[in-house]
Amino acid sequence: MKTELLVTAKTKPADIFIVGVFENTPPAAELAKLEPSAGALLKSAVAKKRFSGKFGEVLSSYGASYVQAEEIVFLGLGSKKTFKKLCCRKAAGQIVKLVLDRKAQRGRVLLPGFIAGQVTPAVAAGIFSEITILASYDFKKYKTESKDAKASEPVLELLAPRGAEAGLRKAMDASRVIAEGVLLTRDLINEPANVLTPPELAARAAKMAEESGVSCKILGQTELAKLKMGGILGVNQGSIHAPALIILEYGKKYQNRGTVCLVGKGVTFDTGGLSIKPSKGMEKMKYDMSGAAAVIGTFKAVAGLKLPVHIVGLAPAVENNVALNPQRPGDIIRMFSGKTVEVLNTDAEGRLILADALAYSARYNPKAIIDLATLTGMCAYTFGGHAIGLMTNDDKLANRVKEAGLESGERCWELPMYDEYAQQIKGPQSDLKNIGGEYAGTITAAKFLQEFVPEKTPWVHLDIAGTAWSDGPRFDVNMGATGVGVRLLTQFLAKWK
Ligand code: BES
Ligand code: MN
Ligand code: ZN
Repeated sequence: MKTELLVTAKTKPADIFIVGVFENTPPAAELAKLEPSAGALLKSAVAKKRFSGKFGEVLSSYGASYVQAEEIVFLGLGSKKTFKKLCCRKAAGQIVKLVLDRKAQRGRVLLPGFIAGQVTPAVAAGIFSEITILASYDFKKYKTESKDAKASEPVLELLAPRGAEAGLRKAMDASRVIAEGVLLTRDLINEPANVLTPPELAARAAKMAEESGVSCKILGQTELAKLKMGGILGVNQGSIHAPALIILEYGKKYQNRGTVCLVGKGVTFDTGGLSIKPSKGMEKMKYDMSGAAAVIGTFKAVAGLKLPVHIVGLAPAVENNVALNPQRPGDIIRMFSGKTVEVLNTDAEGRLILADALAYSARYNPKAIIDLATLTGMCAYTFGGHAIGLMTNDDKLANRVKEAGLESGERCWELPMYDEYAQQIKGPQSDLKNIGGEYAGTITAAKFLQEFVPEKTPWVHLDIAGTAWSDGPRFDVNMGATGVGVRLLTQFLAKWK
């Protein structure tokens, strides 16, 4: 489904007209002009306590005299005082579902009904454009099409007063570009691991780069061996597929504004290796490349928006499998940085591949590094799907990322990185070991990564294990990959200075 801007009320009717109503607040003035009888009906429903406007409440009515559509839906938006961007996103998601459920071809939204506080008309228009695309997405590639499937795409019209078109259109276009980045990320994650092998992930990154004017270099088995990337090679040695280090670069001409490196975990499937995972839920481990996919989707969005930033993306792609010559627990490997690691658990593989990518990022001399990874099950247990785990060595950078989280709706919550935690990953016979014991697993994983972050470089680690996949429906996704990270990073980069 897509959005269209509508500035003249005198057009042909839609199938359904949606009006947002705040609690204890008269509806937008435009309603009385556009639909006087519906305005009167709402008043009476409120007086009779049949409708109060609390968040998510729906009152539907059909009327032969209606002008905008024969069905008018009043949607409760809750208190006007507490209405925030996230509320508007949720309301937009509910509207998209409503229109799709009714199989309506044209929904029409009275935009002035959604304006309050930080939600300006442009913000609301942007949110509707974003959520319409995201909430109507399904991964249907492997569904054999039914005969009547190819119907035309439904439209959500945003009815706005004349005069503000340019600003609203700009916001809608920007949101569409970002949402398309999110959809690419979702497509990559939802793709099963029998199709999306490391070389295939690299090929899809290269295709995106080609189409978006981004430069892309792929380091394969031979180059990685030459560079002595022991972490990437070690994890992948149980796979019959070749590993890859995907390197994306955009905006070199903005290098004087400082380079930002984006690093994403790209484990196309995580069996656990010889420290094999239980079979229950293992199918979900195709999403263990969500960090890499978020980096690829972010490049698509940033290039589409032509943001004035120099970014380098590093996505190590491997399969953690037991098909060939898998790592054994107890193996000691030498990483790209030169440090040695005892692999006590082959299922703690994400940190091994990220360590090499983080150390490699030094050659770009970045002003900031942000990595995204489905790194620990414990992070999912801690935050569920409602917050990204954030760990850092730099408060200023972390604050900027958190700010972008509030703006984009992809919220981040910080965990401490006290020096004491680093004790847990000191190796008895090697520099480091790849697991830190029973406690604080999300943090000790981050402490491991920190050992490979270039000296004096601000760095933020984002654990997206809980947020990258949704088992069931949510306001902006039906099920499966959420595409988390793209909106957050794009928002962060739009404010970069
Ligand atoms: N990819 C997993 C993390 C994960 C688990 C994400 C479940 C989402 C849901 C990661 O590679 C892993 O296996 N981590 C281990 C680390 C442990 C062996 C120290 C974990 O979290 O159990
Ligand atoms: Mn694992
Ligand atoms: Zn993993």
